[in-house]
Amino acid sequence: MIRVLITGGKGQLGQCLQSISNDFKTLDFVFLGSSDLDISKKKEVENYFSKNHFDYCINCAAYTAVDKAEEELELAKKVNVTGAKNLAIACKKNNSILIHISTDFVFDGTAKLPYTEEDTTNPISVYGKTKRDGELAIISNLPQHFIIRTSWLYSEFGSNFVKTMLRLSEEKKELSVVDDQTGCPTYAKDLAEVILKIINSQSKKFGIYHYSNQGEITWYDLAKEIFKQSNVDINLYKTDSNTFKTLATRPKYSVLNTSKIHSLLKLEPIQWKKSLEKCLKEIK
Ligand SMILES: NC(=O)c1ccc[n+]([C@@H]2O[C@H](COP(=O)([O-])OP(=O)(O)OC[C@H]3O[C@@H](n4cnc5c(N)ncnc54)[C@H](OP(=O)(O)O)[C@@H]3O)[C@@H](O)[C@H]2O)c1
Repeated sequence: MIRVLITGGKGQLGQCLQSISNDFKTLDFVFLGSSDLDISKKKEVENYFSKNHFDYCINCAAYTAVDKAEEELELAKKVNVTGAKNLAIACKKNNSILIHISTDFVFDGTAKLPYTEEDTTNPISVYGKTKRDGELAIISNLPQHFIIRTSWLYSEFGSNFVKTMLRLSEEKKELSVVDDQTGCPTYAKDLAEVILKIINSQSKKFGIYHYSNQGEITWYDLAKEIFKQSNVDINLYKTDSNTFKTLATRPKYSVLNTSKIHSLLKLEPIQWKKSLEKCLKEIK
């Protein structure tokens, strides 16, 4: 059996991994929430790894409150940078492979074409900067890493844009959604499958990979499709980032080029509308 530790196991992606774990019979999973293992505490991480051996650690733990991070820099750093570094050092010492999740927010959003793994990072928010610094901490401490950057995660678990839109549609007759940020949504269960396929493949082609569903849309387009597929009748309006102000600045364009991971695992691309349909069925 291949032993797999999941940190941040109670978050959105952690729960998606848990929900498909039975389909991967050769993997033996341990899911830990933040109260079981705080990745920002070096001694706690060292201790845990010295008592338990894992072939892989999937790090789903992160400080993910993008706007709040602008006011909580130290806390975001503690989890996203120190936490990632602690795991990398512990994995190195215990000969484990680290699969770490990162984000499209490491880019500044000025590109016109989908970002490749080789493109220069230039985060424009505290969250994005801490996630980029977390990547760098892993790269400099542990060669045996897969860093997977993903974008616009949603699922039936936790809180996310899809669930927020459905909730707001029950409370309001009209909604305005930004139409000047372009990206690609990703069903977190599709990402969870890809992560477990990396383990099953036993690939040693370590490095950075991009994964998202396929397509290029704005948040407005996503909201429109959520309501269409859910038969929700609501007046939906376009707005822009200048009108809908948030504490953190978000990239205007953050579509990821995913061809590297598609060729590594011989994956079939999944169109974003298809995955949304799967998720909405689960939510119902
Ligand atoms: N959500 C998105 O749209 C998105 C987009 C791109 C990339 N990502 C990346 O994808 C990954 C998974 O995101 P997600 O949506 O699953 O996030 P999430 O639902 O917010 O889950 C993050 C988990 O990390 C845990 N955590 C926080 N601090 C911790 C600590 N010090 N030690 C251990 N666990 C800790 C949290 O536990 P508590 O709740 O107990 O604090 C929570 O369960 C993250 O790396 C995120 O940066 C997310």
